[in-house]
Amino acid sequence: MEFSTKTLAPERAPGACVVAGVFESRKLSAAAAALDRASGGAVRALVKRGDMDGKAGTVRMLYKTRRVAAERVLLVGLGKEADFGAKAYREAVRAAVGALAETGAVDAHVFLADLPVRDQDLAWRVLQTTTVAAETLYRFDEMKSKKSAPRALKRFVIATASKAGAADAARGLAEGRAIAAGVALARDLGNLPANVCTPSYLADAATRLARDWKLGVEVLERRDMERLGMNTLLSVAQGSRQPPKFIVLRYNGAGKGAKPVVLVGKGITFDTGGISIKPAAEMDEMKFDMCGAASVLGTLRALAELAPAINVVGLVPATENMPGGAATKPGDVIKSMSGQTVEVLNTDAEGRLILCDALTYAERYDPAAVVDVATLTGACVIALGHVATGLFSNRDELADELADAGRQAWDRAWPMPLWDDYQEQLKSPFADLANIGGRPAGSVTAACFLSRFAKKYPWAHLDIAGTAWTSGKNKGATGRPVALLARFILNRAAMA
Ligand code: BES
Ligand code: MN
Ligand code: ZN
Repeated sequence: MEFSTKTLAPERAPGACVVAGVFESRKLSAAAAALDRASGGAVRALVKRGDMDGKAGTVRMLYKTRRVAAERVLLVGLGKEADFGAKAYREAVRAAVGALAETGAVDAHVFLADLPVRDQDLAWRVLQTTTVAAETLYRFDEMKSKKSAPRALKRFVIATASKAGAADAARGLAEGRAIAAGVALARDLGNLPANVCTPSYLADAATRLARDWKLGVEVLERRDMERLGMNTLLSVAQGSRQPPKFIVLRYNGAGKGAKPVVLVGKGITFDTGGISIKPAAEMDEMKFDMCGAASVLGTLRALAELAPAINVVGLVPATENMPGGAATKPGDVIKSMSGQTVEVLNTDAEGRLILCDALTYAERYDPAAVVDVATLTGACVIALGHVATGLFSNRDELADELADAGRQAWDRAWPMPLWDDYQEQLKSPFADLANIGGRPAGSVTAACFLSRFAKKYPWAHLDIAGTAWTSGKNKGATGRPVALLARFILNRAAMA
């Protein structure tokens, strides 16, 4: 899809379709009113007949409207004007794009970005129009022998009635395009089956990304990890036939002296649980256990296009978690790269075992901040459901920054405690710490485990177990939290 912005009057918008909003109940937006005036009352007449009452998510298509240049007029219900905020705006865009996709329209002029959205400016509205439209049209049929027919809709014009704010609109468009591409990359990688998307595949994808976008890349092999003493990472890999990979990506947008932000993504390409094997139901979804890694690649993809003045390093420990003959057994004690020993009481708590060595490796960058992203705990899904990502940090300011970025991007994260009191649960009689802390507060004790390896820098952990993919008939990766991470980095770059 080709996205652009343009200033013109709605009735003059050429092509297949012009899109305008109607509030509940039956109040026309400025764009809908302009179409109504031009057409001699066609919109108001339809609204009066009761065919569009403005309820959120509803749509009505009109054909061949008098003195309107476009072939079609699509009216979109916006819901109550008093409630028109970020969520309602996104729903309106989704509804409009969904309706457009069901027609043969090859292009559309969409007059929604002029609508006043509570607390949001024009750049936000243009960015969100772009990312929500791209997300709605996303399809994954790479593994089907019969691909779905290409979409008719090719050009999407985000139209505004006034030239004021053209620079903001352009910025929103550029960020929207780049973030949409990053989200799509993360979704593609997440959706690929685990027999294709192995640790080697992820390393190749990172290498391709680096070549296409002039990023630095390095892939550490098993022997490199052995030399570095990444034994907890290797202890997860040892049950698998697939070789583990440790991927390092670098985006340098600032001077050599500028401390980087390090993003760490959990890259378990399939999580069987290992010897502490998982039950069969829905185990297929554990192909999504590398969505943290995918989000790091997606974020770097977006940043490379936008070229902000900041340095960013992406680290991806990648391995399968399998129950092979050489697999780690419950009770095994492993010495991590940090020197701390870990009693592996449950081999299904493997995410933290690969992340802890990556967090130690991150020390070499003298980072401004480290943010890890992981489908870490089922307990986080119980705590926050599929709405908010779990947010943990050893610095309140960093947590606030990430929560703000999530709100702006509408890819929200919610703070969870990381108090010392919970560390008790990780005590082990045989090692420095255990890799599980029992049933209570499972997402918190997982974060507490990671915190023991993140003492040397400001650090945050995003538990995306509930937000990285959806289950059921629309099963698939969401691309979260690429939008949050990209916003966080762009905000930081703008501050410097
Ligand atoms: N990848 C899973 C977490 C997960 C489970 C995410 C279900 C989304 C849905 C992780 O490796 C895991 O298995 N965690 C265990 C930890 C437990 C053994 C302490 C869990 O959450 O059950
Ligand atoms: Mn697991
Ligand atoms: Zn896992």
